[in-house]
Amino acid sequence: MILEARSREYCEARVRAGVLEQGTRDVLIEAGVGDRLQAEGLVHGGIHLRFAGEDHRIALGELTGGRTVTVYGQTEVVKDLIAARADSGAPLLFEAEDVELAGVDGDRPVVSYRHAGAAHELRADLVAGCDGFHGVCRRSIPAGILSTWERGYPFAWLGVLAHVAPSTDELIYARHDRGFALHSMRSTEVSRLYLQVAPDEELDSWPDERVWAELRSRLAYDGWTLQEGAVSEKSITPMRSFVAAPMRHGRLFLAGDAAHIVPPTGAKGLNLAVADVTALAEAIEDWYATGSAAGLDGYSERCQRRVWRAQQFSWWMTQMLHVDPGDDEYGHQLALSQLRYLTSSTAAATTLAENYVGLTVSRVSAT
Ligand code: PHB
Repeated sequence: MILEARSREYCEARVRAGVLEQGTRDVLIEAGVGDRLQAEGLVHGGIHLRFAGEDHRIALGELTGGRTVTVYGQTEVVKDLIAARADSGAPLLFEAEDVELAGVDGDRPVVSYRHAGAAHELRADLVAGCDGFHGVCRRSIPAGILSTWERGYPFAWLGVLAHVAPSTDELIYARHDRGFALHSMRSTEVSRLYLQVAPDEELDSWPDERVWAELRSRLAYDGWTLQEGAVSEKSITPMRSFVAAPMRHGRLFLAGDAAHIVPPTGAKGLNLAVADVTALAEAIEDWYATGSAAGLDGYSERCQRRVWRAQQFSWWMTQMLHVDPGDDEYGHQLALSQLRYLTSSTAAATTLAENYVGLTVSRVSAT
């Protein structure tokens, strides 16, 4: 049984990031929800780093033995998952209200909720808490059980969806004196662009013309032109790093943003969530098939290795590419030096590339 607080329309319209690691793509295909992803997703073998008037390509594929990323919006993944669930006939309830958990530390947890005006109670074997950072699941764990770690950032992202062919074949991550900018895309006709802004920035102070002017100056590169188009969506994303562990309390298992948040610079949020639920699904299948709880008992620890790798990578990309308004010229020079090193040393570029395409589980545990 899947309970979702929002409406189907809301879930299918919500714009999120759009880069799938190789492993995420493989899992979605294996799960039978990869048809549209394979037909419409854009496979990228590189990204560009732009800074100090230079543009450098990081050859993801060549540096990682052929691993690539697929640019395919999280919104599209969500639509595919909802459609597959609806086709299966298994229950998926939208607009479930007042969801509460009880008895997760016993062997028969109860999930209560209201739907279409009526109160319901579910008696479950297990509860997967995939309800995001603000959801009820993590908050239902009694005080003193979870350890948490977090970091805030003195900036946010302003994102726009524009109906114009991308001005680039591959993503461009730019560090500019005026702040970070990113040129991404959703298809051959739709571009997705981001700008670093102040955390308390109002959308009203960013009319389309100001957004384009700022993108033009931060992404500027000799001989390259940014194509502009009609803006259909504009939003501000706060930046936060957060980890809660263990990702389990009794029969409740946390996955994705319910347990951890990364700033979007490394495009890891959805990928981490898919890695969590893949590990959880395997452990649950094993428990039902053999009665062994070993997989469930090891779930949190198995996920935490990847979670912390993504935390470090996302933090590192974020501080290297953004201009911290409180930082001094020394900090600015360190970031530029880091970028120069990345774009001149194969070893340094490989570190970026293998984190970006996503380490496989076995390689993480071998390190
Ligand atoms: C996006 O396309 O929305 C996107 C791409 C790369 C990122 C973050 C977001 O690092």
